[in-house]
Amino acid sequence: MRKLLEASVKAMENAYTPYSHFNVGAALLLKNGEIITGCNIENASYGLCNCGERTALFKAYSQGYRKDDIAAFSVAGATEGPISPCGACRQVMAELMNPDTPVYLTNTKYDVKEMTVGELLPYSFSGSDL
Ligand code: THU
Repeated sequence: MRKLLEASVKAMENAYTPYSHFNVGAALLLKNGEIITGCNIENASYGLCNCGERTALFKAYSQGYRKDDIAAFSVAGATEGPISPCGACRQVMAELMNPDTPVYLTNTKYDVKEMTVGELLPYSFSGSDL
């Protein structure tokens, strides 16, 4: 778990944040032991900014991994307490991970709040609603 948290904090270093200067790192642990990281990547057209959580998940999916391959997820930012993922990322996490997958919210001091994907977005809209 500590290794996963450290990977998310380290991933903050690669964030491209010329506008907000707010770096976010994310890391997901695969059941095969591999860790995939992501960071936020901003754009002068602000609405095109991609959050760290989504970068990590999209990287994993683009490599062929799926929700059942993911054992745990960690997000880090330079926040006072454990970071709180944005609503868009919670929706994407709800789609791309299982509801019982643990999510560790942390910061550069390693304060940790452990939640599950389902707890982060209860009563979520999903493909089963369509
Ligand atoms: N950000 C994330 O990467 N994840 C979140 O959950 C919250 C916000 C990014 C988006 C933007 O690049 C910066 O943090 C400030 O909002």
